[in-house]
Amino acid sequence: MASYQIEVAIPERDYIIDIEPGLLTSPKALDTLQRLCGKSRLCIVTHPVLLKHYVTPLVEGLKQRGIEPFLHVVPSGEHRKTLATVAKMYDAFIEAKLDRKSLVVVIGGGVLGDAGGFAAASYLRGIRFVQIPTTLLAHVDSSVGGKTGVDLPQGKNLIGSFHQPSSVLIDPITLRTLPRRELCAGLAEVIKYGIIYDNAFFARVDALLPQILKRDMDALSEIIARSCEIKADVVRQDETEQGLRAILNFGHTLGHALEAITNYRRYKHGEAIAIGMVAESRIGECIGQTSPDVTNALIHTLERAHLPTAFPSDITLEQILQVAQRDKKTIGGHLSFVLPLRIGEVNVRNDIPVAAIQSAIQMSL
Ligand code: NAD
Ligand code: GLY
Repeated sequence: MASYQIEVAIPERDYIIDIEPGLLTSPKALDTLQRLCGKSRLCIVTHPVLLKHYVTPLVEGLKQRGIEPFLHVVPSGEHRKTLATVAKMYDAFIEAKLDRKSLVVVIGGGVLGDAGGFAAASYLRGIRFVQIPTTLLAHVDSSVGGKTGVDLPQGKNLIGSFHQPSSVLIDPITLRTLPRRELCAGLAEVIKYGIIYDNAFFARVDALLPQILKRDMDALSEIIARSCEIKADVVRQDETEQGLRAILNFGHTLGHALEAITNYRRYKHGEAIAIGMVAESRIGECIGQTSPDVTNALIHTLERAHLPTAFPSDITLEQILQVAQRDKKTIGGHLSFVLPLRIGEVNVRNDIPVAAIQSAIQMSL
């Protein structure tokens, strides 16, 4: 089966993303962890559901190499992406006697990657960490690029920092146990890359959807690798989102608002982003820069990936606008949107008239 290596070429903080079915049970993963841990201590942060299939074999492998990992197991859920969860991680790090040379290894989806990455970023003013993502969304997006953080009741990801991992180890076999709804949610971010950066990739993902949904390892590895390549290319040019990186937020202004309104419980992150991408493409239509053909192609592919494309009927336009105003991408009271020019190219706008935003949301309600 194909394996891929992608470099995230940020000066002085560059690292490799390894993508390979079977990676977690191969010597390569153990070599990387052993090299990064050296003679120091290693703490694994993970979820109960991952222990049997993925964590225990890795722990056994590390023990055979003389490394005794400390295990901190955290319950799942976006509503637990909080400072309270991070505080418990600090307790675990202290109990594990982690010092400045120690290594945190986060094995989980985007919630744990973000929260665990933030704990590593802030403990002792920052220690190294490795991302071992286990959801499709984390494979293609959250494990790469160094955004770490947690939510506040007032809004998503309002607390956080940029802290690049030292390595990202992606084993697509982890997707075999992922619930189908989570797999589809991850596809929203894959489809996003096609719209914002690569029209040929958009078509390729659409064509591969039947194999992807059957969890064919070659198809999954291919789309994960191209997604990571695009993300690495963007992050390399703009690590801290001063400009270009904002294109990765396509669908996120309204998607994050939807997640907050529904208390981070009703929608998976990727589902909310799918709805947000359609609504934001319609904003592009309302200001005359996006062809309805783009929105229709987006909806068609999202539907084939079993993703929602419209806001639920029990939330109002006013709620969406009010919560979106608190988004951290809002500058000087102006909402920021990523809008398609065509499939494969977008721009970032913060000059959108409220009337256009209202009309687009109305069309998506
Ligand atoms: P998640 O982390 O909540 O994982 C989804 C569920 O799948 C959880 O219940 C988890 O326990 C379970 N799970 C994980 N791996 C599994 C496996 N292999 N088999 C069975 N079950 C498994 O959700 P997510 O979609 O991975 O991540 C969403 C989060 O990612 C959001 O908080 C979002 O803000 C964040 N995010 C961050 C970035 C970034 O750049 N840092 C980018 C995109 C998204
Ligand atoms: N997911 C948005 C970013 O990483 O910038």
